[in-house]
Amino acid sequence: MNNLLLLTISLLTFAAPAYAQDKSFLEGKQLFQDTCLSCHDANLEPAKAPPMFGVQMKYKMTTNNKADFVGKVSAFVMNPSEDKALLKQPVKMLGVMPDIGAEEDDVRKIAAYIHDETFAPPCDHWKHAAERFKAEGKMKLYQRHQQKYDAMCVTKTSTPKPALKSYNLSKVTAEEGSLKAIMQQLGLDYVALESAILLQDFDAAAKAAHAMAFHDTPSFGTKMKLMASLRSDMPKFKEADDKVHNLAVEIESTAKAKDMKTMIAKQSLMLSACMACHTSYRSRIIEILK
Ligand code: HEC
Ligand code: HEC
Repeated sequence: MNNLLLLTISLLTFAAPAYAQDKSFLEGKQLFQDTCLSCHDANLEPAKAPPMFGVQMKYKMTTNNKADFVGKVSAFVMNPSEDKALLKQPVKMLGVMPDIGAEEDDVRKIAAYIHDETFAPPCDHWKHAAERFKAEGKMKLYQRHQQKYDAMCVTKTSTPKPALKSYNLSKVTAEEGSLKAIMQQLGLDYVALESAILLQDFDAAAKAAHAMAFHDTPSFGTKMKLMASLRSDMPKFKEADDKVHNLAVEIESTAKAKDMKTMIAKQSLMLSACMACHTSYRSRIIEILK
């Protein structure tokens, strides 16, 4: 067999199932729009039914696989009842979904589509619901919707950069590229890491740890001065710096792995490593670099 033929065959075998999947997805989507969207449209205000974003999440959380999901959604839609309903709050507010008399075949196709679709977070719906519940004094429901809105709909700004004065450390302005300037940035990144941990914002924690691991290096002149004065202590000074670097690298990877427990443990080791160097060298080096 020549290579071109092989390539064609392999392209065809890969393309065929993808095409089939795409087709049933599109068919399910069309049926969903025709049969369900009149109520389940996230843009309706007031809402007539819960947006599919939340319905999908609830059913995914209570099923193990797609077949299970399709079975459970179809069973509800073919014969809706209060005891089968998983969404207690919508049932309370809107009543159980009516039996819409759909064909089971269609409903299963729709359910498969709902499983596979990536629904946009219903931001306007959450915002309106939060406002309404707040006005009605239903604070728990207000908070629940506001939290979802804040988490999914508010674009996060990058790592916070707190003002230097919040440290109350040095009143001296640092020269660009100086060790002091590098340390001040390290201090800012350290605070950013700590607040990211408190907010359980793993992305921001990874970013802050990365910045700490790859902090700027002092100018050549500063390095020479340090080497000339620290002499045989220079390897120990370097070792102290490496220790912080290695911990920052580890914190970045635990943040990416969303491993909060290990991250907190490493972060506390890092503070000790920062302080170990400060205790041994900070005042000495301030003298050297004067
Ligand atoms: C006439 C309006 C209406 C139509 C049309 C409609 N629904 Fe609903 N649906 C509701 C309401 C109201 C609820 C919330 C109350 C409830 O959960 O039973 C709901 C809830 C649901 C739930 C969650 C049930 C639960 O609480 O566990 C699923 C799943 C669902 N709908 C699927 C569908 C599908 C699929 C279609 C189209 C085949 C559809 N719905 C069409 C009104 C509708
Ligand atoms: C290898 C030694 C070493 C390590 C490790 C180290 N520092 Fe420093 N740090 C210094 C020295 C030396 C100074 C004094 C520099 C100066 O004032 O010129 C300093 C000063 C500082 C300052 C004060 C800056 C100012 O405005 O006076 C902060 C904040 C700081 N370090 C934060 C950190 C943090 C956070 C870590 C750990 C993530 C850390 N440092 C790790 C050596 C170290």
